[in-house]
Amino acid sequence: MTEHFQVHGGARLAGAVDVVGAKNSVLKLMAAALLAEGTTTLTNCPEILDVPLMGEVLRSLGCEVTIEADTVTITTPADLNHHADSASMGKLRASVCVLGPLVGRCRRAVVALPGGDAIGSRPLDMHQNGLRQLGAHSEIEHGCVVAEAEGLHGAQIWLDFPSVGATENILMAAVLADGTTVIDNAAREPEIVDLCTMLLQMGGKIEGAGTSTLTVHGVDALQPTEHRVIGDRIVGATWAFAAAMTRGDVTVRGVDPHHLDLVLEKLRTAGADVTILEGNAFRVVQRDRPTAVDFVTLPYPGFATDLQPFAIALTSIADGTSMITENLFEARFRFIEEMIRIGADARTDGHHAVVRGVARLSSAPVWASDIRAGVGLVLAGLCADGVTEVWDVFHIDRGYPGLVENLVNLGADVRRVAAAPERS
Ligand code: EPU
Repeated sequence: MTEHFQVHGGARLAGAVDVVGAKNSVLKLMAAALLAEGTTTLTNCPEILDVPLMGEVLRSLGCEVTIEADTVTITTPADLNHHADSASMGKLRASVCVLGPLVGRCRRAVVALPGGDAIGSRPLDMHQNGLRQLGAHSEIEHGCVVAEAEGLHGAQIWLDFPSVGATENILMAAVLADGTTVIDNAAREPEIVDLCTMLLQMGGKIEGAGTSTLTVHGVDALQPTEHRVIGDRIVGATWAFAAAMTRGDVTVRGVDPHHLDLVLEKLRTAGADVTILEGNAFRVVQRDRPTAVDFVTLPYPGFATDLQPFAIALTSIADGTSMITENLFEARFRFIEEMIRIGADARTDGHHAVVRGVARLSSAPVWASDIRAGVGLVLAGLCADGVTEVWDVFHIDRGYPGLVENLVNLGADVRRVAAAPERS
């Protein structure tokens, strides 16, 4: 039995929505709990499928994990199992983030290659090269990343590309290395800053969080801590796009609007009125049909690749022609095939897509290929004539807590339906 969403087109979203902690932060913070013996508590955690999956990964390493509403408690033992090869490993990408902490704590790790979204090739060469520079040997063996070190020492590491995952793994190994590590061309995402904040609270010594150069002075041991996960900027941006696409009026609470500076500026270019409100909130009001706007995905503070499906969805109903450039994950344009099913006029050429806005989309059954593509189809369905069926919604459940409830609260008619699909 597979579930699908029935999205009735035509509603103008209006009201307020609360956004909780970021998926791409909480999963890394859970991995960071491996670095300190004792009990770490994370609050403001999203109630999404990936959190219990990551909990399973940590349990397989010897941790006790409890998840109650928005609070995750992890008790890490003195002796960790360094084999991370449970079935849950293959179900999410962030599972690879146990690599750095295990190498830091145990000086050896065997970590099953991660799963996650089918959005293009996702090698681990930068993760491995960073660990090698810290003194570890690392190979891929029988489907696992294996890393072993006699001792870890500080190093100067230049990343070829500001990879989020590689920055996190190297950082979490370097905090327990001897001496000072400098990571240059490091990722600057707010989720990296959140990880640095937690590591500092645990007794780590890190300078430069949020810049391209992270300096890490290794310490002998870290202490467990209590930490509140930052608000999910990708979910926050999703609501901003939803407001702009439905000519709605939505107030988004729980996300730092400065994490979305470029996104909100792009929506202003498309015709939205965006107001920054007190206390991590903003309001997006769109009165007329959005106008065409170009998007180029880049590492933060550039426009996030995770928002690219929403950019395609918005421009598919905008007035005019837009160009979308994808620089991170080549397969993310698979989303366009589904958009074409519901009447979008879009074509790709390499890592560019040209989208000619149409006056209306026309409902059809469509299939989510990953978390963001799935939600992009829901947003497009809100702007289509009739009822759009979005299938394979388990992808959406991995990243969006209470999506349907939130949409209904904002005035949309969206239902989760259980039924067996037939795909020709
Ligand atoms: N890359 C390499 N070698 C490496 C690591 C990365 O070539 O060793 C390449 C990738 O192939 C990609 C680019 O570098 O072209 C960026 O990848 P990055 O390592 O930054 O991505 P990630 O850590 O695997 C995280 C998020 C993704 C998000 C990207 C980019 C998590 C669990 N995932 O992935 O989020 O798209 O950063 O911002 O944090 C999502 O949430 O829907 C999602 C896919």
